[in-house]
Amino acid sequence: MNILVTGGAGYIGTHTCVALLKAGHQVVVVDDFSNSCPEAMQRVETICQQSIPFYQGDVGDKALLEKIFSENHFDGVIHFAGAKAVGESVAKPLYYYRNNVTASQTLLEVMATFDVSSLVFSSSATVYGDPHAVPILEDFPLAPTNPYGRSKLMVEQIMQDQAQADKRFNGIILRYFNPVGAHESGLIGEDPNGIPNNLMPFISQVAVGKRAQLTIFGNDYPTRDGTGVRDYIHVCDLAEGHVQALEKLHDQQGCHVLNLGTGNGVSVLEMVAAYADASHQPIPYVFAERRPGDVAQCYADASQAKQILGWQATRGLPEMVADSWHWQSGNPNG
Ligand code: WQD
Repeated sequence: MNILVTGGAGYIGTHTCVALLKAGHQVVVVDDFSNSCPEAMQRVETICQQSIPFYQGDVGDKALLEKIFSENHFDGVIHFAGAKAVGESVAKPLYYYRNNVTASQTLLEVMATFDVSSLVFSSSATVYGDPHAVPILEDFPLAPTNPYGRSKLMVEQIMQDQAQADKRFNGIILRYFNPVGAHESGLIGEDPNGIPNNLMPFISQVAVGKRAQLTIFGNDYPTRDGTGVRDYIHVCDLAEGHVQALEKLHDQQGCHVLNLGTGNGVSVLEMVAAYADASHQPIPYVFAERRPGDVAQCYADASQAKQILGWQATRGLPEMVADSWHWQSGNPNG
């Protein structure tokens, strides 16, 4: 299949392009480089030993999308492009709703104009908010607690409505938990602009000497060691989940919602210890107050993805931290 990958130069986008090409599909990428760089695309081409058609620009630019769709025939779209920092979304809600919701609506309109009916959407476990229980099932209440999570839920609802209105539409909503790690080559990995919001890139930057110490937000949670517990999933497992979702579901009408997680919860302190083992570097840290908006525990019940796609995560914590360190130590400045 020929797939348009929006945000394809980003962390999950590059890894998914590699997985799609490895599975024998073709890709076209559009990205505005707001949280990525051209070098990342060159490295994907190096890994895959083939050139990738690329357009630079904003998915919200309707004229650009119409040009891309008129110059290519797509069997489907994987939509990664969007802003994803919870804290930033609280400070800039209008930017998040324009960038994540309005742009997605524009994409859906252009897809309909060009009769492209299959959309895989990059959603997030943040749509669950503070879950009443763990592990989390897809039919749990959806109660996002920040504009980022609400923007993801809004796009999910737009897709559900489009599937009701257009019987050709095929929507695949993938709710990620916490993507971490890097491709085995060490050529691509997580490279956030500025100070990392997320745990793993912050730890990796401490390990490589770019940051002095980690601040652990809260050690008084009702968890086994008092620190936050999350479902960290290797980015290559996540990428392969996208390929299998497309291959298994792209011709099935309607909207499908799947959790992509490992089903295992790992605490901050356990992640710190695993990273110190993998990098043979001390990871100095201090405890601080809880971060507003954080929940104590969030991890998936991923049995639906296994049952429907035949997919499950295969890479464990040691591989996640080893691959992350391989990338970070080889690219200390990203
Ligand atoms: C994980 C744990 C923190 C940084 C968010 C989004 C989610 C997805 C992944 C996009 C928590 C603790 C973190 C630090 C810390 N993003 N932590 N010190 O908040 O679970 O999920 O990122 O899709 O949608 O909500 O991930 O990595 O920020 O935090 O102690 O410097 O690490 O308190 O317990 P989170 P995270």
